[in-house]
Amino acid sequence: MIILAIETSCDETSVAIIKDGNVLSNIISSQYIHNKFGGVVPEIASRSHLKSISFVMSEALSKAEVNIFDIDAIAVTTEPGLIGSLVVGSNFAKGLSLKFNKPVIPINHIEGHLFSGFINNPELKFPFLALVVSGGHTILFEVINYNSYEIIGQTLDDAAGEAFDKTAKLIGLTYPGGPLIDKYARMGNPEKYNFPRPLINSGDFNFSFSGLKTSVRYFIAKNFPDGVEEQDYPDLCASVQEAIVDVLVSKSLLAAKHRGINQLVVAGGVSANSRLRERLNKSSEENSLKIFIPEFQYCMDNAAMIGFIASKKIEEKGLSFYYNLTFTASPNVFRRKAKK
Ligand code: KG4
Ligand code: ZN
Repeated sequence: MIILAIETSCDETSVAIIKDGNVLSNIISSQYIHNKFGGVVPEIASRSHLKSISFVMSEALSKAEVNIFDIDAIAVTTEPGLIGSLVVGSNFAKGLSLKFNKPVIPINHIEGHLFSGFINNPELKFPFLALVVSGGHTILFEVINYNSYEIIGQTLDDAAGEAFDKTAKLIGLTYPGGPLIDKYARMGNPEKYNFPRPLINSGDFNFSFSGLKTSVRYFIAKNFPDGVEEQDYPDLCASVQEAIVDVLVSKSLLAAKHRGINQLVVAGGVSANSRLRERLNKSSEENSLKIFIPEFQYCMDNAAMIGFIASKKIEEKGLSFYYNLTFTASPNVFRRKAKK
């Protein structure tokens, strides 16, 4: 079974080829054009997807040494994300389907992240907890199997990646700020400044990051009225990062304890954060919790994770179920409520 998977929900154009659940290629083209605007500009994102999608697909096919006539199905992210970006991928998939007479499996992007822990991790078994942390989402799931999972907590306002990006902008760093905060923080003291850890003691599994951003704004206005200089980046970045990581780690451990589950998958762009990885690995030893963090290329937005979950859907429903092209792109997180 060969699947050509497409992901264009935000600012990465990605196409992957998956054969029998194994990744043969996973090409990701990131749109650096947004850096100078300090965030993703939706109209530019969809135009950039349009420009690069054919080329990215050719690269994916050629790296996998697969001819497009040999694929069995197409998988595409249809929700959630930027609507203009999703429409590019969805319509490209429909066009391929009509031209080559292949079925299309519409995929929810969050489901892609949710099950990305299985790629290259044969030891991962159901049930597990999954923390999906990206620029758009911070959600904790309890996952029973491919068809059954429950949102047990989520952010009430900003996502963790958004907190990284917005505080980075206040400090004077370019977009996306997460990797830069991570880089400077490695040289800084995380205890130098004390930023709030919102909802850390709330007892539930929800998150809130917008207060942190406001607190960093006031802190900078008071202590660095002329702007933050590069020599001050390390301590400031380390302290902000520690506040975000503290909350993510503490809520994940609490969820594992309450639900009696000893496996945690961490996925989405923020799972690339080195301090988050370090802290989780440390607590895994202390709490006998097994941590699964996908390889970097499967943490960020990528088509391999879309193809992987599509292969499971095909196993369940069969290819013939997916010849009907009535699906539409949607910006919403879960049109179908996550089920248990
Ligand atoms: O999953 P992703 O590629 O796209 C979305 O679906 O949002 O995640 C992108 C987010 C951005 O907010 C970016 O700043 C953050 O992930 N990010 C990081 C790191 N690498 C990427 N945040 C903290 N530390 C990192 N090393
Ligand atoms: Zn994502």
